[in-house]
Amino acid sequence: MAAPSCCRKMAASGLENGEDAFRMIFRFYKKRNPPADLSSVIDFSRGDSRVRPVELSVGALTDQDALRAGLQSLDRWKAYGLEGYPGFLFISNPFLPGWQHRWVRQCLKSYPRKPNVCNLDLHMSPEHTVDLWESSKEQLRRKAPNRRSQKSVLEKLRWVTLGYHYNWDTKKYSGEHQSAFPGDLAELSRCVSRACGFPAFTPQAGILNYYHMDSSLGIHVDESEPDRRSPLLSFSFGQSCIFLLGGPSRELQPTAMLMHSGDIMVMSGPSRLLYHAVPRILSFPGGGLLPPCLSEPPAGDPSDPCLVEPCSAQEWEVCAQYLRDSRVNMTVRQVLEEGGSFSVAQDPAAPMSRVSKEDEYHLEDTEAAGEEEVGPNLLVKRKKSF
Ligand code: SIN
Repeated sequence: MAAPSCCRKMAASGLENGEDAFRMIFRFYKKRNPPADLSSVIDFSRGDSRVRPVELSVGALTDQDALRAGLQSLDRWKAYGLEGYPGFLFISNPFLPGWQHRWVRQCLKSYPRKPNVCNLDLHMSPEHTVDLWESSKEQLRRKAPNRRSQKSVLEKLRWVTLGYHYNWDTKKYSGEHQSAFPGDLAELSRCVSRACGFPAFTPQAGILNYYHMDSSLGIHVDESEPDRRSPLLSFSFGQSCIFLLGGPSRELQPTAMLMHSGDIMVMSGPSRLLYHAVPRILSFPGGGLLPPCLSEPPAGDPSDPCLVEPCSAQEWEVCAQYLRDSRVNMTVRQVLEEGGSFSVAQDPAAPMSRVSKEDEYHLEDTEAAGEEEVGPNLLVKRKKSF
């Protein structure tokens, strides 16, 4: 995992100050004034010497199944591996034109609905969280660009959990706190996992993160799933981000890469338990309000069989307003191995959390927290971030 020389120098000086290499690079990319130099950030859509194309097994996904989920036929996907990261796969936007709209609408309208769980449940009475879309759509539609206005509740949404609901305090899943995993997202995830060589993957839990331009996601490892052999899938929509993928220890320097709307990551094998983080959300390069792939007219025949109903023009108006300064990421996980249960599944030899207290998994807004990342009481930060 050779790092560019600027990062090597930076990490060395950070280490002298007692800061680990990952945190040093995280802070470098999080900085806004002056903005960080992005010249060594990998952009998979442009190619890079650290990146190599990966052939997916074309027979693993039929064109019909791909089409139902809004994906291009598998022979058109552009998949890449990354030098030094076996088990890591990056798929550059395999969605059919117009299809991301449907998944974005699901993320904003359907998945935040009960019985799914969201950050706002901690602060608001159930009648106010019952339908965030309904209570926000007019406010979002009327929102004037570049003007500060009161946030709609949808804009206060930070996370939603699906299936086995992740407990942020215990960092565990349990059989007692579970709701049905959305069938459409399960099907999309199975299409991707089959294409990437994981035909037995069973989507059981989802964490959706909703980022705004000043949000970041702390350094963490996803290790709360008793089943760590299954891959973790990650889908991104809206504005771009810098994603940092590190090693099994925070002393190793992470690699910085851009994730754009429609991109999918698969973390499996040795890459499943690596430290990672999102230090920065960025507007899509080029200056438009939305990335061009979100402005493409829908492909195909609207009568084609599909998993998710089309996003209407009125719905897209709301989604587009939201995405002008937001990014949505969905991660999908298998929690239990086939035939596993919570009582026996936890491997006692494996530490529950190798994440340091300082940078646990959390979404943080610079606006609320100040330019510096704030201290260790992350529960308080999470509660504040609504
Ligand atoms: C991302 O937003 O791309 C990362 C989400 C995660 O690590 O859970």
